[in-house]
Amino acid sequence: MKIHEYQAKELLRRFAVPVPEGRVARTADQAAAAFQELASPIAVVKAQIHAGGRGKAGGVKLVRSADDARKAAEEMLGKALVTHQTGPQGRVVQTVWIEKGSAIDREFYAGIALDRRLGLPVMMASSEGGMEIEEVAAKHPEKILREAIEPGLGLMAYQARRLAFGIGVPADVVGKAVKLLQSLAKAYLDMDCSIAEVNPLVTTKDGSVLALDAKINFDANALFRHTELLAYRDLINPRAMQGATNAAEKLPDYFTAADEVTPKQHVDIQAASQKWVDSSISKTANVPTDYKYDEFKDIYLYAHEQGLKGCTTFRFNPEAFQGVLVKEEDLKNTKYVFTLEDGTELEVRGDEEIEYDGEIHTAANLFDAMKEGYYGKF
Ligand SMILES: Nc1ncnc2c1ncn2[C@@H]1O[C@H](COP(=O)(O)OP(=O)(O)O)[C@@H](O)[C@H]1O
Ligand SMILES: [Mg+2]
Repeated sequence: MKIHEYQAKELLRRFAVPVPEGRVARTADQAAAAFQELASPIAVVKAQIHAGGRGKAGGVKLVRSADDARKAAEEMLGKALVTHQTGPQGRVVQTVWIEKGSAIDREFYAGIALDRRLGLPVMMASSEGGMEIEEVAAKHPEKILREAIEPGLGLMAYQARRLAFGIGVPADVVGKAVKLLQSLAKAYLDMDCSIAEVNPLVTTKDGSVLALDAKINFDANALFRHTELLAYRDLINPRAMQGATNAAEKLPDYFTAADEVTPKQHVDIQAASQKWVDSSISKTANVPTDYKYDEFKDIYLYAHEQGLKGCTTFRFNPEAFQGVLVKEEDLKNTKYVFTLEDGTELEVRGDEEIEYDGEIHTAANLFDAMKEGYYGKF
């Protein structure tokens, strides 16, 4: 799972990694207000997308007034930003992050990822800040220093020092850089990250060391240990809901509902999801009223063959239970038989209307009311 820079910075701040102070804005006015609140002569407006390379693509703008901040936000919000990491279609910017501008002295790189060969997380550091690590690896592999992290120990102080000195962090701020690198490693381990990257990590003219950019990805298989992080998921359209007719609230076409799939598809979905979601097995397969008995019993056989831990089905049967979830389609497919006082039988569909006692009822409702004994009681 990917999260945005501002979210990564919020998390890193909790682990005591120094990051610039900033504000989130979703409108140009909010961006202007954010500039004012930050009370800094220079701020940076940064497009929040799940991709890097924003700087070169116009997604990072230096601003010196609330008006400039508004304009910069206006240019980014609602538009697709194309960087070399997004593909030609780009990513639509829905949020901008406005942070205090830093008087950068030098830019470095620091990042942690799993080294599959070692089976350990490895911190990489480089003097070539701002450049992508893949590019540095291709052109100047000798400029990347590495330290493997023992998960039980974290990044040891001597390792962090070796990295900081090795990439040329000025001696007077090495102590701060060491703390930052160790905190970054702790954040990586505690949150089960798959990537935690600070590019650039900067030293400033006033002697601080800061994470100016932050990228964090999470190991999706470990998210169950960190359900709080799910709040950072980007929903494609948070207003979407089933049954919406308004285009802005419609679910994507590929969405479907449990009673729109066949019982066999239902079993397939359960078989796939029960490996990960234990409660998926308690979802009942809805069986249409016009389903043949032979096929009905085969659902159970099929469930057994697919290795399901269990299987429940529901089929509308008015003799047992009508319930509130009964669908128009079920009523159409169901025959109701009423025996009149003179012994004649009257056969009607559930959705047909019948006059009884001087009132009009659907056959299904009348049948249910008489069966349950509440007809005329209310
Ligand atoms: N708060 C800031 N103050 C000053 N310069 C910044 C700030 N944030 C980013 N920059 C500059 O913009 C460049 C690109 O920003 P960054 O956040 O790394 O985006 P990306 O990696 O997507 O291009 C940085 O390398 C840095 O030079
Ligand atoms: Mg960057």
